[in-house]
Amino acid sequence: MRQLTLLLVTLTVLFTSCAKDKKGAEEKHAEMEQHGTPPGWTFTLPKGDAAEGRNLFIKMECYKCHEVKGEKFPQAAASEKGVGSELSQMAAMHPPEFFAESIINPNAVIDPDAKERGYVGPDGKSKMPDYSDLLTVKQVADLAAYLVSLKGAGHAGH
Ligand code: HEC
Repeated sequence: MRQLTLLLVTLTVLFTSCAKDKKGAEEKHAEMEQHGTPPGWTFTLPKGDAAEGRNLFIKMECYKCHEVKGEKFPQAAASEKGVGSELSQMAAMHPPEFFAESIINPNAVIDPDAKERGYVGPDGKSKMPDYSDLLTVKQVADLAAYLVSLKGAGHAGH
């Protein structure tokens, strides 16, 4: 009789703890639905300062590989000039987040003609350096703001 009572107690304990686990999982599910990624969500950068971004473009020597029409940046090393694309043309076509991605994750989107244009090395990776260890988030936002501001250069839409 004592043994049976013990068995019953054990079973009751087991059952209640199982039920509790199940309830926990259900709660978690509901929570995820409520707090999950909202439909249509996209990543947005903090607002950048275009003038700061222009300074950074010079300081980080982006001009060594990228021409910017309408700008007269310091002497670009002849060997490196033209490695990357001219940047004012694409300003009108992309949000700042797209430029930010090019700067912190250069291999995320590679130009379909990258090989012919010499944008990628023999390993197929972009020649664009990865700046994620070198720039703060604010600096990335500033650079992106600068590139977007190039819209006015008169090459939009090409
Ligand atoms: C060593 C050369 C080099 C330097 C320095 C360089 N880039 Fe690039 N960059 C490239 C190449 C090559 C590509 C094109 C590769 C591709 O399409 O993935 C590129 C792509 C980009 C793009 C996307 C343009 C496009 O056509 O898709 C942006 C924006 C950009 N670079 C911004 C910058 C900024 C800002 C800096 C400085 C912080 C910088 N780059 C420094 C070589 C360079």
